Amino acid sequence: MYLNLFSLMLMLYSVTIFAAPSQDQLKEKLKLGNVIVFSHVVTKDTPKGKGAEQLKQLVKEQNKSLSGFPNVQVYPDSVLFDDNKVMDALAKDKNRVQLAAPSISKLLTINSKLKIFDFPFLFLTVDDVSKFYEVAREKLFVSKKVGDSTFWYLDEDKKYLVIGLWHGGMKQITSDEAITVSSDKPLKGSKFRIQSSPVIEQVFKALGAEFKLEDDFTKVYKKLKTKEINGQENTWSNIVTGKFYEEQKYFLETNHSYLGYLLITNQSFHDEHLKNPENEKRWQAIFDTVAGNVNQSTDNANAKESLISILQKDGKKDQPINSLNAQDREKWCERIYEGQYSEWKKLVEEIGKDIVQMAIQNKTGCPHDILRSIVNNPS
Ligand code: LMR
Repeated sequence: MYLNLFSLMLMLYSVTIFAAPSQDQLKEKLKLGNVIVFSHVVTKDTPKGKGAEQLKQLVKEQNKSLSGFPNVQVYPDSVLFDDNKVMDALAKDKNRVQLAAPSISKLLTINSKLKIFDFPFLFLTVDDVSKFYEVAREKLFVSKKVGDSTFWYLDEDKKYLVIGLWHGGMKQITSDEAITVSSDKPLKGSKFRIQSSPVIEQVFKALGAEFKLEDDFTKVYKKLKTKEINGQENTWSNIVTGKFYEEQKYFLETNHSYLGYLLITNQSFHDEHLKNPENEKRWQAIFDTVAGNVNQSTDNANAKESLISILQKDGKKDQPINSLNAQDREKWCERIYEGQYSEWKKLVEEIGKDIVQMAIQNKTGCPHDILRSIVNNPS
């Protein structure tokens, strides 16, 4: 009997140790219980990863005082879904995932007005994006008023409820090939991984780069390693936590465009947790706290500092990170916008002149002057 029990324990132990659950097993398991699943694609150490963990902790606190309040389980690093699959699952398989925060660039086929967030050099900082989001939200999304609350949907069919905007940060450029910043085609000679956004495509084309569309963030490192691509754009935090720097020689601080996320859920989450006004207030307080913290994150500044010391330690360079100076920035901006005027015009019309106007505000210079002339052009 002792032996049998011992063998059984040993067997269970080996199963636990050696057989990590497959994605399907994980998904099956999650169908059960009062659990809210939050799936995302980056590491726990990024602004999004930390936001997800904080959300989980704050919900747990509620749970202590309010029995029946659910628990949140967080699945980072695409262990459950990548960003495209999670959108499918949110719409079709409501028991398996209830929260996701894909980058806005991956949501453009669902809502094309969001292309504005990818416009290069339009937003100088993430705070500019926050201000724009507040004023433009009602034009970007489909709203629904219930009592005192307004709910924002990503799509006309109201499959996706938008809870809030989380900043990833401003994007920088890395490559294995030297970047001749002031040349006419500064990114010529490199093949960049970009997310599948027509706006980003237009930018890299104008800068002379080849590019490969790849939405799955977890594939980027491997593709850099195998030289399928030799450059990419991302936030400092993603560059460092994704270890992209191991495969890249050149780092250019461009802050050329914005990477942000929409925290999204589905209608069944709404029906279960947000319909009751008391519960909605509790959730809203949690969502507001987390968004506030994510959006104040200093992770990108810290990641840049640690990248500098990693590169210096490796003896890679004395001056490991170059920056785009004001003059070159102007040149890049003009190359991108003036060189493809009719394409930007089409995009502006698709997004809506009123939304573009809100993003330009009263700023001048490139691209604001060019976009203003497109907006004001009556044709
Ligand atoms: C990317 O695919 O590069 C980003 O969307 C990853 C992320 O979610 O920050």
